Amino acid sequence: MLNLNDLKIKKMEINIHIEEYENVNELPEREQELVNQALGIIPNSYAPYSEFRVGAAVLLDNNEIVPGSNQENAAYPTGLCAERVALFYANSNYPGVPVKSIAIAASTNDGVTDDPIYPCGSCRQALMEIENLHNAPIRVLMIGRKKLQAVNSIHDLLPLSFDSRFLTKKKI
Ligand code: THU
Repeated sequence: MLNLNDLKIKKMEINIHIEEYENVNELPEREQELVNQALGIIPNSYAPYSEFRVGAAVLLDNNEIVPGSNQENAAYPTGLCAERVALFYANSNYPGVPVKSIAIAASTNDGVTDDPIYPCGSCRQALMEIENLHNAPIRVLMIGRKKLQAVNSIHDLLPLSFDSRFLTKKKI
């Protein structure tokens, strides 16, 4: 009978660092503006199917803020999350400019969610690409009515990630 305790398994732990804020006023001024823009773009969400409206705002290294909202489609997978709408618009219009941070907020028919909203796996992967591209950490601000949470790098939300290092042809 195989006893797992007899195997020489090397065990490791990965620590992630999360900051928590009770009030938006605790953030630096530009981040407060970023949070306000993420909240402010929510009404532009096109979410007739899920009725889950998401707003995101990207702060660039040139101090520009690019907001975006989720855009759904009758053919469900065609839609896109708010984070990627904002991020792709930013990289299309400001290529070469690093992303400093992104704020994310969501609203149901009851209003802005009490708890912070976390980016989906695909958005984490898209953010990782840009963080790696510029070799500059992206701070992620996740907004809820009760509290805000922040991580200082997308690596905290996507440890052990797949990236271009694994591709033999194209390396960034
Ligand atoms: N959504 C986002 O825009 N961002 C997230 O981080 C999670 C989910 C959108 C996708 C879809 O339009 C709706 O929320 C419900 O999943």
